[in-house]
Amino acid sequence: MSEPSKQSVENVRLGANVRLADFINLYSCEIGENSRIGAFVEVQKNARIGKNVKISSHTFFCEGVIIEDDVFVGHNVSFINDKYPRATANGLPQTEEDWECVPTLVKRGASIGTSSTILCGVTIGENAIIGAGSVVTHDVPANTVIAGSPARYLRQINDIRTTTAEADDKRPVPFLDLQAQYRTIELEIQPAIQRVLNNCSYVLGADVAGFEKEFAAYQQAASGIAVNSGTSALHLALLAAGIGPGDEVITVPFTFVATTAAILYTGAKPVFVDVEPRTLTMDVDMIEAAITPRTRCILPVHIHGQAADMDPIMEIAKKHGLTIIEDACQAHGAEYKGRRVGSIGDMGCFSFYPGKNLGAYGEGGIVVTNNPAHEKTIRLMRDWGAETKYNHTLKGYNYRMEGIQGAVLRVKLRHLESWTEARRRHAAQYNRLLADVDIRLPEEIFPNRHVYHIYAVRVPRRDKFQQSLTARGVHTGIHYPIPVHLQPAYADLGYKPGDFPYSESIANEMLSLPMFPELTAGQQDIVVKSVREVFKTL
Ligand SMILES: Cc1ncc(COP(=O)(O)O)c(C=O)c1O
Repeated sequence: MSEPSKQSVENVRLGANVRLADFINLYSCEIGENSRIGAFVEVQKNARIGKNVKISSHTFFCEGVIIEDDVFVGHNVSFINDKYPRATANGLPQTEEDWECVPTLVKRGASIGTSSTILCGVTIGENAIIGAGSVVTHDVPANTVIAGSPARYLRQINDIRTTTAEADDKRPVPFLDLQAQYRTIELEIQPAIQRVLNNCSYVLGADVAGFEKEFAAYQQAASGIAVNSGTSALHLALLAAGIGPGDEVITVPFTFVATTAAILYTGAKPVFVDVEPRTLTMDVDMIEAAITPRTRCILPVHIHGQAADMDPIMEIAKKHGLTIIEDACQAHGAEYKGRRVGSIGDMGCFSFYPGKNLGAYGEGGIVVTNNPAHEKTIRLMRDWGAETKYNHTLKGYNYRMEGIQGAVLRVKLRHLESWTEARRRHAAQYNRLLADVDIRLPEEIFPNRHVYHIYAVRVPRRDKFQQSLTARGVHTGIHYPIPVHLQPAYADLGYKPGDFPYSESIANEMLSLPMFPELTAGQQDIVVKSVREVFKTL
């Protein structure tokens, strides 16, 4: 009696050197050279397995699956090829025609852990790693690790092919890389956006309300009111404080124009005081001299992610009965003596412009406060001053946050601490590597927490310095080249060159180096090497 066959291999295109274990079932499929197929594996018709692939035992490949070269597949992995399988169609057993095969692609170099299930229609990117036991329901970006059911993003892999010193040397270093960040959270962002699309809460809604609570808690404030930009946040905070025509608001000229613009929107007058050299924030010794009987509010700016010196500001405000509104648009998570900015004064305003440390996928902003009366006014004012639908008790605005931004920001907020810590590590590394170059580096004032929205150095011949760095492929920014009091649009405020010497001098010297959480060590080395070279030539 002849021994029964331990392998069923019918009509299979086998490359050279393929190793097949016993008890396999392969038919009308293709297996590339040097691949190894473990015991009890089934590969159905029209499935394609590339070269150098290793497939462990008990794994099932259905029709429609394409596995590229160099892929590893663990034990007991199941691929599915019909999105909505049914036993019957119109009461009769299904035939081949009722069944729709949705292809699945696993790209070169990926690894799929034991007992994973791969739903049909997904693409697993190059070199991605799928943790054991995962249920993969969405496309997986290249070079990422995902796991769980449904599988979620865990981290980025520093792909050897893209991070060799040689490859890095040739690529420009961006000032900011939003794409790199998106790749790391794509798997979380997509279902969050999908949720908003499914429940149609395009404006405000559950995700915006959830985000308000979560962000307020993050900033150690009692409440948050989400709006459509940082500028709207400032505008409404000023209005809630009762600021209007005839009032004066003390702020700084070394900031983005929005700080000044928001004051002017209310009809009040911005009154500037200079900034001080260490923090580049409001020089507290100059505040009292700027106070007049019309002064109603002090508006310090936590510029670049560094807290202004809040204790003296609070004291002065208390002494003169002034409101404090913090412009924290660049300072998510920054701390002053252990307290999160934004919740120290009466109100704190944040921007979620995409490039911010916490950025929306569009415009966004929020006011945080511990004052229930301010909260109520701002909540009404952002939505046409309507107490209930079509009952307008205040003259308001359309400053509502969109639902999709709320959903995106909720996902991103979960990562903010690790992104902030990455920024702080990059800043510490710049500080170490540039310590012996004669340029002024940013300072973190103990015990405050700088969140390095911007890492700005002060360099000689700044514009030339910047051009030379660009020529070397290092992209930088200038925040900001002209202080607000010298901007043509605000000439009617009556200020002139020389009024705020420190703001004017730093506007000519500041150069912002590449700074974002995903900055690699290789990119940072290029920046440092280029800064050193340019410094020598100038
Ligand atoms: C200091 C400062 N204030 C206000 C704003 C205004 O925020 P938004 O652009 O969201 O209106 C910004 C943002 O650029 C800013 O950096």
